[in-house]
Amino acid sequence: MSRRRILVTAALPYANGPIHLGHMLEYVQTDIWARFQRARGHEVVFAWADDAHGTPIMLNAEKRGMTPEQLIELFGEQHERDFRDFGISHDNFSSTHSETNRELVEEIWQKLVDGGSVVTRTIEQFFDTEKSLFLPDRFIRGSCPRCKAPEQYGDSCESCGATYEPTDLIEPRSVLSGSTPVMKSTEHHFVTLKPFEEGLKAWMRSGPLQDEVANKLDEWFEGGLRDWDVTRDAPYFGFRIPGTEDKYFYVWLDAPVGYLSSFKEVCRARGLDFDAWVRPGADAEMHHFIGKDIIYFHCLFWPAMLEGAGFKRPDTVHAHGFLTVNGTKMSKSRGTFIMARTWLDHLPPDVLRYYFAAKLGPGLADLDLNFDDFINRVNSDLVGKLVNIASRAAGFVHRLGGGTLSATLPDADLYREFTDASEAIAEDYEQRNFASAIRRIMALADRANQYVDEHKPWKMAKEEGRAVEVVAVCTQALNLFRVLTTWLSPVIPTIAENAGTFLNDDLMSWAGLDEPLLDHRIENFQPLARRVEPRQIEALMNDAKESLESTESSSDTAETAPKLELAPEITIDDFIKVDLRVARIAEAGFVEGADKLLRLVLDLGGETRQVFAGIRGAYEPADLEGRLTVMVANLKPRKMRFGMSEGMVLAAGGDDGGPYLLSPDSDAQPGMRVK
Ligand code: MSP
Ligand code: ZN
Repeated sequence: MSRRRILVTAALPYANGPIHLGHMLEYVQTDIWARFQRARGHEVVFAWADDAHGTPIMLNAEKRGMTPEQLIELFGEQHERDFRDFGISHDNFSSTHSETNRELVEEIWQKLVDGGSVVTRTIEQFFDTEKSLFLPDRFIRGSCPRCKAPEQYGDSCESCGATYEPTDLIEPRSVLSGSTPVMKSTEHHFVTLKPFEEGLKAWMRSGPLQDEVANKLDEWFEGGLRDWDVTRDAPYFGFRIPGTEDKYFYVWLDAPVGYLSSFKEVCRARGLDFDAWVRPGADAEMHHFIGKDIIYFHCLFWPAMLEGAGFKRPDTVHAHGFLTVNGTKMSKSRGTFIMARTWLDHLPPDVLRYYFAAKLGPGLADLDLNFDDFINRVNSDLVGKLVNIASRAAGFVHRLGGGTLSATLPDADLYREFTDASEAIAEDYEQRNFASAIRRIMALADRANQYVDEHKPWKMAKEEGRAVEVVAVCTQALNLFRVLTTWLSPVIPTIAENAGTFLNDDLMSWAGLDEPLLDHRIENFQPLARRVEPRQIEALMNDAKESLESTESSSDTAETAPKLELAPEITIDDFIKVDLRVARIAEAGFVEGADKLLRLVLDLGGETRQVFAGIRGAYEPADLEGRLTVMVANLKPRKMRFGMSEGMVLAAGGDDGGPYLLSPDSDAQPGMRVK
């Protein structure tokens, strides 16, 4: 097979919060694929960066009394340490706030302008006069124009699912200052997408996308492509738009360019020809790994920008699902919102990498890290099956063979049976079906253990004159172990490296497997993987809960509000007006045409109420039936598109999770007043 040139990227983490296990799902997936391609002998550059721009980063820095430059440097270093310690094998980890990126962004922008793809329009936007800042949608709150639910964001209502413009909100206020924003006009540049539609469709047909993603794109095409607002007004932390005094590129314009500028830095350092990799017709491939939440940016805006600026479009954009832990969204209170560093404080990286790989398919399904399953899987596969082969065989080679493997394999057919599976396993890796690759590898690990069980070297070793035979059996076993570990080296690089030291062989290349290791010295065996104990998981989760406070200020708050913003103060009399009651959910069902709502029938101890609640994303209807909750019982009924809503259920929730339906202890009776 000819040597491919492959540029690999993962989505750039924001440089204002720590890396968590959700991020690591993506970065491990990307790294496995990159390592696999290298192990196959291809020329791989894995280049990426921190995503350093945007309003949240600016505000976060301000809150900490730092400059944004200081903040992104701090997190840039922390991120890189986390990645290194997780075995991420990138060739470059840069920052989007680099001169290389600025130059490339300006070049691409100029091409778009010259190509007539940029239009300028005056728009009206909310402006916070206290902070002197145009407000992004997420920094405005008010009551929903449709259902009147209070405290909704400027773009959509979490209660009824309506989407709208921030100007539609009732009594809007700035999340930053609490003041009422005013409308102010400003001139913005937009990138027009319509002219790129045919090009995008042609690109899509060339097969760069998973079916589910392609279907999404079709929907977007049907809905019509709107021009993309790429301007942000000062103050903003980003790159200034050339020719303006106080306008900046929206962070999502310069972020993906970071892929190319990070790669360009590699080209400079290694003397590679940048253009020969990234221009149309290049004899090189470009592969992006992303989460399913950022498909729009990578499958519409980005390829359009690339086309408009004279670059090749991606060969694949590979989207993955989200990580859940123990069956639900990662949660701080449950101790399942785990930072990469917290993991490393308790457990080695390879066991997580292995678990992710064992469950990663080529689709967009979410992946659950279930700790019981995790412990079983790792202990049974890595310790019980893989490492066991080597630990059973190593001692005999030293004791009876002087540390040297036999000169022939006693069962060459079995060895061939293993290496014959190489291509199927490679194809699984190539298609990002890691779960299938792992299944094949583990089936052969069983076969290798079976071989050892059948020949019982420990028994032969006790018998006179059978030393040569024992060493031969162990040579066979260690060669099978070598094949398995080489296949797994993209997944468990640390274990593979240590196994390589033990076998005096670099287990990083598949080509080497054609020839077994014979008449070859090996080193003393060192334990390669330890069993994971339940108490380690307990300690990890406790630590995750505790480290909550120290990370809180950096990770989430910046994405939402700098501090807890309360609604205006009320008196006890105001509160008493709200009649809260315990209710039993008698029925729960989907609502056709509303993807965020569930229809609930609530039993108040004799009386029933129908309520539409925006909790569909978090609950299966069947799980809700019979459960107790709390409702506002004296809310004026309101007519919705789907019928009357006669009250409201109470749920906690925000950006970091939820909604979580509130429920009283199970002894509470439907109809009881909640005070
Ligand atoms: N900065 C943008 C990406 C710009 S790419 C030009 C961004 N950053 S992020 O930090 O929010 O997310 C980085 C990547 O991690 C995204 O692909 C995102 O989907 C992924 N994940 C973040 N949380 C995740 C989970 N809980 N589970 C799986 N992937 C997750 O988006
Ligand atoms: Zn609403």
